[in-house]
Amino acid sequence: MKILDIYARLKRDMNYIEKELEKSIYSDYTIMRETSAHLLKAGGKRIRPVFVLLAGQFGNYQLDQIKHVAVPMELIHMASLVHDDVIDDADTRRGQLTVKSKWDNRIAMYTGDYIFAKALGVVTQLPNPWIHQIMSKAIMEMSIGEMEQIRFFFHTGQTIRNYLLRIKRKTALLIAISCQLGAIAANAPKSVSQKLFLFGYNVGMAFQIRDDVLDLCGTEQQIGKPPGSDIKQGNITLPMLLALQEESLREPLLQEIARIQAVDGQTDVSAFIRMIRGSNGIVKAEAMAARYIEKAIVALKDLPDLQAKKDLIRIAHFVGNRSY
Ligand code: IPE
Ligand code: IPE
Ligand code: MG
Ligand code: MG
Repeated sequence: MKILDIYARLKRDMNYIEKELEKSIYSDYTIMRETSAHLLKAGGKRIRPVFVLLAGQFGNYQLDQIKHVAVPMELIHMASLVHDDVIDDADTRRGQLTVKSKWDNRIAMYTGDYIFAKALGVVTQLPNPWIHQIMSKAIMEMSIGEMEQIRFFFHTGQTIRNYLLRIKRKTALLIAISCQLGAIAANAPKSVSQKLFLFGYNVGMAFQIRDDVLDLCGTEQQIGKPPGSDIKQGNITLPMLLALQEESLREPLLQEIARIQAVDGQTDVSAFIRMIRGSNGIVKAEAMAARYIEKAIVALKDLPDLQAKKDLIRIAHFVGNRSY
């Protein structure tokens, strides 16, 4: 897989970031140390810090500075996952038990808070309030996005715009600011950080669309959790909204969704998944993801032709087709 080549090029720097991540969440308080290290040790793609480092290469790249953005971006992501798994009642993540499942919901809430606070501790070592404000705003938007998702649970009348605004908030903005802040932390010009923001935003939209497709088409081994989790919770995603637009499928789908809702998701959803897979929803959602990837690449066109630019383009293609 191509992404591994890119990671190989960044290996030394990413190993350093990994060590910094481990150090950053250390606590003398045993249970906090164990709960917060649990998700970190489970792995993950580390795509947000990778974006920070690549974006930083468009400015004055100094790892000991830029780490103050790369580390918090992964920490914010991790904290949101620990909380997200409480909301989604998810038992596995990154192929391991979730914090809420290994411990409990209360422990998971405080672990998430703790990791958020650690992120704050690291980023404030950079004396640049602009960076702090951008980060704070993205976390607020992410919280609203997650809340919007709850508000729209089982809401089959929602529009594709509702969906797109929600995923912008819950996922795309964090990826966008990873790119933007990497550039800002390396003192790149504002025009550069803006272009990188736009790149990250478009990649981020495709990233979540792909996540939603994988929940319907991936295997448990690929996605590190059982497929069908979205509809069990009531999360109506893009392929489902597109399938609902098909006249012959609409009624049977609405009935199946109502049935799943009536039993609070405590049911086999394989028939529902088969219906969506049999629709054009998946192909159309994939086409939308591909359009976001194209836009992301266009956003980079006026940036200097550095190796980092080639790497960003390759990651964008990876995101558009990712299977994990
Ligand atoms: C999962 O993010 C949550 C979404 C925003 C879709 P990732 O797919 O980046 O998760 P890890 O970090 O690789 O586990
Ligand atoms: C991503 O949402 C989590 C956040 C953006 C906070 P999902 O619920 O879609 O992600 P997974 O599928 O659990 O990784
Ligand atoms: Mg989830
Ligand atoms: Mg969720």
